[in-house]
Amino acid sequence: MPRAIFPAWFLLPLLLGCSMSERFHKEGFKVIAHRGSSVEAPENTLGALELGVKQGAGGVEFDVYKSGDGWLVLMHDKDVLRTTNFKDVFTDGRSAKVSELTLAELRKLDAGSWHSPAYAGEKVPTFEEALELLRGRATPVIEIKPGDIGRDVAMIVQKLGIEKEVFVQSFSPRAISDFHEVLPGVTTGYLTGRKISDNSVERAREHLRIARESGASVVVCNYRLADREYIEEIHRNEFLVWVYTVDDPAVMRLLMERGIDGIITNVPSVLLDLTGRGE
Ligand code: G3P
Ligand code: CA
Repeated sequence: MPRAIFPAWFLLPLLLGCSMSERFHKEGFKVIAHRGSSVEAPENTLGALELGVKQGAGGVEFDVYKSGDGWLVLMHDKDVLRTTNFKDVFTDGRSAKVSELTLAELRKLDAGSWHSPAYAGEKVPTFEEALELLRGRATPVIEIKPGDIGRDVAMIVQKLGIEKEVFVQSFSPRAISDFHEVLPGVTTGYLTGRKISDNSVERAREHLRIARESGASVVVCNYRLADREYIEEIHRNEFLVWVYTVDDPAVMRLLMERGIDGIITNVPSVLLDLTGRGE
């Protein structure tokens, strides 16, 4: 079957007469807990997501992989070695890659003890569990890690009926465009740490080009790339720009002065205090 000249998501903002990221434009500056509140709790666990919500983060970021038997689960690395007790549980030399473990095997792991005794027994969460925990409480900021699971992620979001709540981002333009083939109207972000050019405007234009091609309406970049000219160029194009990952209050303040729209941080309580939204 011949492919349409424009993907469906391309026409959606025209049909709706608004930007796909309008919701986030309206919400204003966004405080996003990175991998949950991941200094005080073990990253990408339900405990870390819950703490991010309790501390008042408007968005909670986490990373998604697919297990060997097709389940979407939360994990940052390709393998489970850094953030679980895999080596104590499996001594038969099997692979520690998420993509080669079943959900049942992943569920045997302790994903909390490496961080602190208080979190001993935390499990590797499924994507659905994470979404249910955040439903109606904070924006799930879903990072799609492997480039080939964009459709799987979209189908779960659709199944749970939370298209209006989520934000989806990836370093992989393919993951974003695959996601949009299923859910054209969901706001997405193109993640990038690529400097490309010393010229900030050129850099912004290249990031915008890739974002547009994949259907994203937010650029989420490494904070070192977000100088004033870069942010202004993104805004001139009516995109939003968020940055990752900022834990230093002086840098947070500087980026806010420059007009950044959102900051992803391991220490949301610090950023919330700075913005006057703290407990
Ligand atoms: O949210 C963006 C940030 O999480 C990207 O980097 O390596 O922490 O997934 P990483
Ligand atoms: Ca991430």
